[in-house]
Amino acid sequence: MNYESLVKPAVRTQPVYEPGKPIEYVARELGLDPAGIIKLASNENPFGPSPRAVAAAKRALEEGELYPDGGCFALRQKLAQRWGLGADQFIIGNGSNEIIELLGHAFVGAGDEVVMGAPAFVVYKLVTLLFGAKAVEVPLVNHRHDLARIAAAITPRTKLVFVCSPNNPTGTANTEAELLAFARALPEHVVGVFDEAYAEFLEKAPDLRPLLTEGRKVVCLRTFSKIYGLASLRVGYGYGSAEVCALLNRVRQPFNVNAIAQAAAVAALDDDEFAGRCARENRAGLVQLEAGCRKLGLETVPSVANFMLVKVGDGGRVFEALQRRGVIVRPVKSYGMPEWVRVTVGTREQNERLLGELEAAIR
Ligand SMILES: Cc1ncc(COP(=O)(O)O)c(C=O)c1O
Repeated sequence: MNYESLVKPAVRTQPVYEPGKPIEYVARELGLDPAGIIKLASNENPFGPSPRAVAAAKRALEEGELYPDGGCFALRQKLAQRWGLGADQFIIGNGSNEIIELLGHAFVGAGDEVVMGAPAFVVYKLVTLLFGAKAVEVPLVNHRHDLARIAAAITPRTKLVFVCSPNNPTGTANTEAELLAFARALPEHVVGVFDEAYAEFLEKAPDLRPLLTEGRKVVCLRTFSKIYGLASLRVGYGYGSAEVCALLNRVRQPFNVNAIAQAAAVAALDDDEFAGRCARENRAGLVQLEAGCRKLGLETVPSVANFMLVKVGDGGRVFEALQRRGVIVRPVKSYGMPEWVRVTVGTREQNERLLGELEAAIR
């Protein structure tokens, strides 16, 4: 008997997440100098981590022999202050990815349905399948979540519905009014999950807190991986009712978020200057990329996030060609978009380099 025959059925058919390629892999594979490679594949922050966060992380490392605060007290206090919510209305995760999995643990079982847009962040589907449930994928319209269609896909078996805004991989967003109306119309038996991983890049992020005051069943997800540049530390959070946070806390591991990440996240929240500057630079980068692509005759999807879809013809070929030229982007064939690549907005210089290499790669 091999292991494959022993695992649970969902594991046997479970698709595998394909991350953006690390610089060192590409350098090794292609015999390139890592110093000359730029990675614009995983929607990371090209300006690095918040400096305040780095200083706090270094200090926390000095106490590396101690287990972290399993309850993330200081971080939840800080978030509570910032959001004007109770500290018990936050769940902290090893990246917001983990919170998606906790939602699966808490709410999703065999035979259940989970509704999501398509294409949207693939982890919703992966978690759904892992728990033996059915992923009900609702095609986007004009690359944007059509919330009426998503609402229409809800059935008595639906447990969760994911709405990603701004959406990965399209970079499109729904308005505050759309999101509020959608959430207010959700049936009693459904938990609405609003993934706001890229909300800080918006000029004004929708405020979904009225839904909590009204007692709606919603959980909103945020991350320190993007605007605060802490992707390697793995820390994200959800906010919702105290009741749902307590349930999600029940299904997590005791020390799911390490102390260095907690300290960095607390300090990052004090670094509004850094976050504001990253958001402004990102908006300038979007304009730069859009203009550059237009010059090359390439269609883009207008984005409000820190990445952009570019229609290049054969996405796989252009991805490979760019990689040989030292620029790592993301092919999106697995998202059903074989003609496109997704590029992260870099620094002004990185964007320029990308556009130059793109010109050569599409020839
Ligand atoms: C829409 C969306 N949600 C969540 C995540 C996960 O972020 P993290 O686990 O790093 O907090 C990502 C990462 O790319 C994302 O694009």
